[in-house]
Amino acid sequence: MDFSHSRSGPAQSWLLDLMLGPVRWQLLRSGFELQVFDYLPEPKTAPELADSLGFKAEKVAVLLDALTSLGFLQKTHGQYRLVESLRPFLISDSPQSMREMLLHLARVKHCDMDDMLNVLKTGESEHVSADFARPEFWDRAVGNLRSFHASCSNRVALQLLKSLPEWGQVRSILDLGAGSENLAVSLAEGHPDLKVRVFDLEPCASRIRSAISSRYSQQITVVAGDYNHDPLPQHSDLIWASMSLYYAKDLELLLTELRDSLNEQGMLVCLHEGLTAERTQPEHHVVGRFVPALNGIDVSFNHGDIAAAMTQAGFTRVLSRGINTLYGPMDLDIGYR
Ligand SMILES: C[S@@+](CC[C@H](N)C(=O)[O-])C[C@H]1O[C@@H](n2cnc3c(N)ncnc32)[C@H](O)[C@@H]1O
Repeated sequence: MDFSHSRSGPAQSWLLDLMLGPVRWQLLRSGFELQVFDYLPEPKTAPELADSLGFKAEKVAVLLDALTSLGFLQKTHGQYRLVESLRPFLISDSPQSMREMLLHLARVKHCDMDDMLNVLKTGESEHVSADFARPEFWDRAVGNLRSFHASCSNRVALQLLKSLPEWGQVRSILDLGAGSENLAVSLAEGHPDLKVRVFDLEPCASRIRSAISSRYSQQITVVAGDYNHDPLPQHSDLIWASMSLYYAKDLELLLTELRDSLNEQGMLVCLHEGLTAERTQPEHHVVGRFVPALNGIDVSFNHGDIAAAMTQAGFTRVLSRGINTLYGPMDLDIGYR
């Protein structure tokens, strides 16, 4: 059989497995929504949990067995317990909890067949992801972004920044389209001499500002603005732009303004996806952004777009490389003023 798909194994297994995707998500979702995970840091039987939740014990047992089968729980002598290594990500009030982010992303990235048919036929969409370009969307998304930053992207950003040969000389950094205070606070905490500025749309900026402890009031400044219209903060040694350049009305113009805002030896570090194979790969981004794309927000960059625009914008040297992150393969583009 010719099964030329990149996956290994027979096509039949792959197709059967794909059909189970929604069941897996609904199980994880029920664990979050019913707070099953929050109840199970200590072992409990199905009747004990059913009693706490006010559900039928025999049905709760079926749910817990399936959650165990997926690897969220372990079951010993009829007692269920949350798998230790998943605790930080599944428990609601853990600082690295992925609960809010995953529930939010599922609303943005999933749609049912009727919604899909409606868009295909009419071109019209009322799906939540159609609001991506509006400040109100990002304002509502701050909680989700915080959860994403604390659990996934913060460590990627910190590792990347600290691995730059120029990092030792960086005294001022601008996080453009930060989405939360998370990275700014980590940077300020670890580098008391670093001046950190955050630039984001209002009302996102106000939420970010109010989440920053007064301890950092001398070190972190939050500037509200739209990078398409408002003046950008000047004199940064490094500008970090991660998944934030999509809404540039004129990318080359924005990059020129960012370049001009940098100090003499400054650099712009961008982290975005780079689609390849005529916008059909990598699957992580193409499938992950299928619903927003169908609903009109098809903003992913092609591989090489940002580097080419940086060169056009006058950066004297542009370095690009692909990196694997917890959230899929990404392109790192660094432009030197
Ligand atoms: C996908 S989030 C990325 C957040 C964060 N940088 C990250 O890597 O997770 C996009 C961010 O860009 C901000 N943004 C969108 N349009 C903007 C604009 N015109 N000017 C400034 N920030 C903007 C949004 O408010 C949001 O915080």
